[in-house]
Amino acid sequence: MYNFSFQNPTKLIFGEGQISKIASSIPKDKKVLVIYGGGSIKNNGVYDQVSAALAEHQWSEFGGIEPNPGFHTCLKALEQIKADGSEFLLAVGGGSVADATKFIAGAACFDGDPLTILTEGAKVRKALPLGVVLTLPATGSESNPNGVVTRYETQDKMPFYSRALYPQFAVLDPTVTYSLPEKQVANGIVDAFVHTIEQYLTFPVGADLQDRFAEGILRTLIDNGPKALSEPKNYNVRANVMWSATMALNGLIGLAVPQDWSTHFIGHELTALHGLDHGQTLAVVLPGMMEEKREQKREKLLQYAREVLAIEHGTENERIDRAIEETRAFFESLGVQTRLSDYGIGENDIPPMIEALKKHNMVALGEHQDVTPEVSAAVLKRCL
Ligand code: NZQ
Ligand code: ZN
Repeated sequence: MYNFSFQNPTKLIFGEGQISKIASSIPKDKKVLVIYGGGSIKNNGVYDQVSAALAEHQWSEFGGIEPNPGFHTCLKALEQIKADGSEFLLAVGGGSVADATKFIAGAACFDGDPLTILTEGAKVRKALPLGVVLTLPATGSESNPNGVVTRYETQDKMPFYSRALYPQFAVLDPTVTYSLPEKQVANGIVDAFVHTIEQYLTFPVGADLQDRFAEGILRTLIDNGPKALSEPKNYNVRANVMWSATMALNGLIGLAVPQDWSTHFIGHELTALHGLDHGQTLAVVLPGMMEEKREQKREKLLQYAREVLAIEHGTENERIDRAIEETRAFFESLGVQTRLSDYGIGENDIPPMIEALKKHNMVALGEHQDVTPEVSAAVLKRCL
């Protein structure tokens, strides 16, 4: 078990009707900027709840953050912050809105060109304080210090990170997820599942509790995922999915263990070059990655088969084959397709993706840093 230190400062406010709590979570003397996406919050009552909660605050709003948030949209929000003198940012939406808000919060206090935060990993040391009202359980962005922003004109989808970007609080009300389109519910479940897998399916280091946390999340998602689609207003189902997604990427389960983010980084190129949703990219790449890395991941694949999927019989190779097949079948059962060909992507599209990985220095991925561009190409071939 590896050494670690852990501090997650985000206060989580969970449950139905909890949006009203933002009133007491944001100081009354701070000017607030409410940041949101394409308008879903105006149709599902979330905007009204936020407005009511902020009745005693001075606030303005910035809408139009796109899924896979754009750098230029973030720059527009920055201009508005300067004009309005906003001092506290409230993200109301999914991971895209939360990520954009983090970027904006950091860029507002950054000396220099904010693009370098993305292109050169320039350090964000200070940020405006921010909170999140989460409407889509998926990314964990509501209680982690990470974000991903896309520069559309160059097709670069780039991650950033700073401890200064942890939200101060996140409101998780499962009832606001009732209005999600099925596709987004499914994408979110796949995303949370793959976050957990990428902190679990590596090699054993004797971190038993971490393994049990991860297996618990995976089983909760397998049990509740299909029900989230078939019983869309089942509160406990949505609550378990929402809590699982937060726990999958708030730092806890990744402590003390090796991590493998190769599926995610390859997935980012699929979004940037072909426009797939984040969850779709993961459903495509993960089974191919499991297959390609089955020898190095053998022990953990067998553990996953046994502890998560209850696969007990057969030879080791048969159990691993079944675990990979059942993972794919789980994603498909949610309606998320798992082959590049399902999205009209063929073998000729692989070399540009490999070039993009090289451009972004994603050349030594995985828990052993041995997912080179050649290995990524082999993985993508398995995904056709
Ligand atoms: O734009 P609006 O109108 O809000 O509509 C959104 C959007 O069209 C809609 N939606 C959200 N909540 C809704 C709703 N529609 C109806 N009812 C609701 N309650 O859903 C669509 C997708 O939203 P988006 O925020 O893009 O989805 P998600 O939460 O999956 O976020 C994806 C982004 O997060 C990044 C991804 O790369 C992608 O850019 N990630 C961020 C991570 C992090 N910060 O730690 C980690 C992840 O691995 C991921 O990379
Ligand atoms: Zn993800």
